[in-house]
Amino acid sequence: MGYTLAQKIIKAHLLSGEMIPGSEVGLKIDQTLTQDATGSMAYLEFEAIGIPRVKTEKSVAYIDHNTLQSGFENADDHAYMQSITKKIGVDFSRPGNGICHQVHLERYGVPGKTLIGSDSHTPTCGGIGMLAIGAGGLDVAVAMGGGAYYIPMPGTIKVELTGRLQGYVSAKDVILEVLRQLSVKGGVGYVVEYAGEGVSTLSVPERATITNMGAELGATTSIFPADEVTRDFLRAQGRESDFTPLQPDSDAQYDKVITVDLSALRPLAACPHSPDNVKPVSELCGIKVDQVCIGSCTNSSLRDLLRVAGMLKGQTVAEGVSLTISPGSKQVFAMMADCGALGDLIAAGARVLECTCGPCIGMGQSPRSAGVSLRTFNRNFKGRSGTADAQVYLVSPETAAASALTGYITDPTTLGQAAEVVMPERFTISDNLIVHPAGADEAQALEIRRGPNIKPYPQTAPLAEDIRCEVTLKVEDNITTDHIMPAGAKVLPYRSNVPKISEFCFVAVDPDFPARCKEKGQGIIVGGHNYGQGSSREHAALAPLYLGVKAVIAKSFARIHKANLVNAGILPLEFVSEADYDGVELGHALSICGVPAGLKAGGDLTVTDSTTGRSFAVRAELSGRQIDILLAGGLLPYTKKISERQ
Ligand code: F3S
Repeated sequence: MGYTLAQKIIKAHLLSGEMIPGSEVGLKIDQTLTQDATGSMAYLEFEAIGIPRVKTEKSVAYIDHNTLQSGFENADDHAYMQSITKKIGVDFSRPGNGICHQVHLERYGVPGKTLIGSDSHTPTCGGIGMLAIGAGGLDVAVAMGGGAYYIPMPGTIKVELTGRLQGYVSAKDVILEVLRQLSVKGGVGYVVEYAGEGVSTLSVPERATITNMGAELGATTSIFPADEVTRDFLRAQGRESDFTPLQPDSDAQYDKVITVDLSALRPLAACPHSPDNVKPVSELCGIKVDQVCIGSCTNSSLRDLLRVAGMLKGQTVAEGVSLTISPGSKQVFAMMADCGALGDLIAAGARVLECTCGPCIGMGQSPRSAGVSLRTFNRNFKGRSGTADAQVYLVSPETAAASALTGYITDPTTLGQAAEVVMPERFTISDNLIVHPAGADEAQALEIRRGPNIKPYPQTAPLAEDIRCEVTLKVEDNITTDHIMPAGAKVLPYRSNVPKISEFCFVAVDPDFPARCKEKGQGIIVGGHNYGQGSSREHAALAPLYLGVKAVIAKSFARIHKANLVNAGILPLEFVSEADYDGVELGHALSICGVPAGLKAGGDLTVTDSTTGRSFAVRAELSGRQIDILLAGGLLPYTKKISERQ
């Protein structure tokens, strides 16, 4: 039997395990990336492991999230990351150089290589044929130290693309259609691979839009083949020597196949408040719009912004609309300026922001209360925009631009024939905002800058024999990492300060949660399905750890968050019978006895609820390695133990 794209890359990087779907495989990681909101903690963790220099082929630290500096905290974090990366052998992408995934695609992505990043949209580089996976910061720290990255061996969903996109229909509509068909849970446990005659009609940045938002399917990652289009992109980036062709075998087997006819696709929108709540834009026409935001790692490429500039040229943004544009990288920004397209955006009344995540991570531009915001981003969870009752729609740059001009949600295909976006043969290349690391000898003498916002990794303890504590929180289905650990300008500056950031844990769901945890000293969280969906944010595990959470019992978990809980030393357990969820309430006193022996014997444990006198079964779906990590008190003490032995 032949191999799929992902299976080929996994086979070439397999360090341990067997390629049987669901069983754990350990992978050699060629590249890592961090962004600043998760990176400061990843580097604190790397320091705590005690390895002096990174062992990957290439590791890059980006500053793109916390670029608002209204206090000293973000600047402290940036100074810390700039100094430590120089010392340990990591490239440092300075603020102003762009959004991690866009820059990584342009300047570092290599077909056939493995990449993990402490950001859930790391699959963006699947657009260039990498196996690119979002991971927790601690996993990235371990990979930087040369350790394997472990995942359950994924199955494969093939998306067969036929035909060619028409006019103002674009790559964003493709991924919205896939989300419509598969839902936010449909990709869990799978790699989504794109194939078919439609692939060659899409440029690498268009493919990257699709793989980027594949994160919203819950997929391990998404990937395109590396073909002549990939070679052209790398040539235009002055990196043709990085090209390696990558195609699936003709007899590769897929677990599921869906088809998207590009020619028949119409503009789509993800309606509030989920990326899979997808409807045709034509059904939404007439909804009044207050704000349009174009950018983010999903839709901020040169192709996207040239398209928008072409649509806005010579026109004016509607009176009631605030239009913001965030270019994805300095390369995109500079090229927009050089060709005059930036002037067209400014003349039309667009508010051009710096090339960072900006509004996507709640750094400014919160919509008015109950306002309607159209965004080209990838997430529209309630409150992520910074306005709790905002109605956020996720759309293509084409739909965004058309709607910004009319003031109402507008189907761009009604504007008539779309002009071709003419891409340059070569991008403008300047890596002058990349700071390269010092050589190993020089690095020894370098000081690491640590301001008062830099606090060490929280204390962990080996898993106790018996866990006896109260339920300190009960939540429903689809709790996101935004619910657990909100982003936004108020909270993000404390990403390297776990004691402080813990004060914000779950406050949008239950404002008393942090205080209750402090009073009780320890606790258990009870959750519904898909607990922890959303980002790779390990603070959604570190803050509960700091607040004394020993276990989370849920109906099911999102993949990255479950791994982050294990890494933090918090036990993730699933109800064997979902009906038992209804019987457990806030304040119930639970006992889980004989935990280490129960985990080793296969993962089934009994929970006794002494408030009701009932008992129920829970299951730990964990690999042997994950059990060892939990017994050691988390990935950090586990890795330290292993590296001390070597
Ligand atoms: Fe940044 Fe938003 Fe992407 S926060 S990395 S632009 S999902």
